[in-house]
Amino acid sequence: TTLPKLFQPLKIRNTTFKNRLWVSPMCMYSAEDGFANDFHLAHYGQLAMRGPGAIIMEATAVLPEGRITPNCLGIWKDDQIAGLKRIVDFEHQFGTTAGIQIGHAGRKASTIPLSQYGKRPSLRASGEEGGWPENVYGPSAIPFDDQHWEPKEMTLEQIENVQQAFVDAAVRADKAGFDFIEIHGAHGYLISSFNSPLSNHRTDKYGGSFENRTRFAVETVQRMRKVWPAEKPLFIRLSTSELVEGGWAPKDTVALAKILHQEGVDLVDCSSGGNDVRQKISAGPGYQVPFATEVKNGAPGVLAGAVGIILDGEQANDILEQGKADAILIGREFLRDPTFVQKASQKLGVFVKWNDQYERGRPKTHYLV
Ligand code: FNR
Repeated sequence: TTLPKLFQPLKIRNTTFKNRLWVSPMCMYSAEDGFANDFHLAHYGQLAMRGPGAIIMEATAVLPEGRITPNCLGIWKDDQIAGLKRIVDFEHQFGTTAGIQIGHAGRKASTIPLSQYGKRPSLRASGEEGGWPENVYGPSAIPFDDQHWEPKEMTLEQIENVQQAFVDAAVRADKAGFDFIEIHGAHGYLISSFNSPLSNHRTDKYGGSFENRTRFAVETVQRMRKVWPAEKPLFIRLSTSELVEGGWAPKDTVALAKILHQEGVDLVDCSSGGNDVRQKISAGPGYQVPFATEVKNGAPGVLAGAVGIILDGEQANDILEQGKADAILIGREFLRDPTFVQKASQKLGVFVKWNDQYERGRPKTHYLV
């Protein structure tokens, strides 16, 4: 018998992922001044012990004002490297490939954690709550909705500074030992809002045509690739569709994926939405998988990650076996059950190594392979 695709290793550049079942980035809103702490070590550490091929650390900001909330992780100063490295080193002890999602929240910055929503008057984080209302910016002065701050239109100098911050963050991520970076280009945050004609009304070279709107993303990738080691993979998460008439659509994602692949992006993590309140989502099991398939087929050579309501190992494996995607990312199921990978391996009859400390807890089953 051959190994089910989900548990086949995947080599990208010089990095080997031990399987194709990965932890999707999830904000934990538990940092102070952007620093990783014991919570992050315990959280990512417990997941690493349970066998995922990769863990993508939550959205981590390249600048303080690029945080979604005052409690988001940061990678904007060298002092933040040590706390991240401690987690990476721990993850490596258990054979997990360590990734980090780096990003900038753009016009969706300076909010309160969603878990607090409803307990406070609005989603906005004020100055007293640790927010930075006066320093929220995006491609254009168009707010996301009335729950978010009014952003300022970025100057060319600000665009240059933010791109440089992505480059500096990549250097720090390398120093922290991360094996790969995922750029956050989804969900209406800065890069995503540049791409969309609905949120980007600029009239300079960063707005208007597809080429101009995607210039921010393309230049950022080009600049990061110069400092990010050639043997290490670079991913990007994109909102493949913003699910609004006249907005960013899957065909745009395919076109951008081709360009970014040329510039050194290895995998597109295919999410959707988050840039426009008019979006029409009908979420159900595997609802975003067709987007990944469209990218995989439309932009040959680039790998496609599937994410969104993938709930068990068989569903995950079928997606790969049917050639619909190259890797599977799981979010909430890992919060419900950190043993997801071990359960999936049992179900699929695959023997995976458990950490020595827990080995005696392994259920007694017969393995096919
Ligand atoms: C998320 N998601 C998310 N996405 C992202 O690109 N960066 C992030 O930091 C976060 N943060 C985050 C926090 C929490 C608590 C949740 C539940 C989700 C989205 C996540 O990565 C994933 O794409 C979605 O949750 C859909 O996958 P699941 O959860 O259905 O497997």
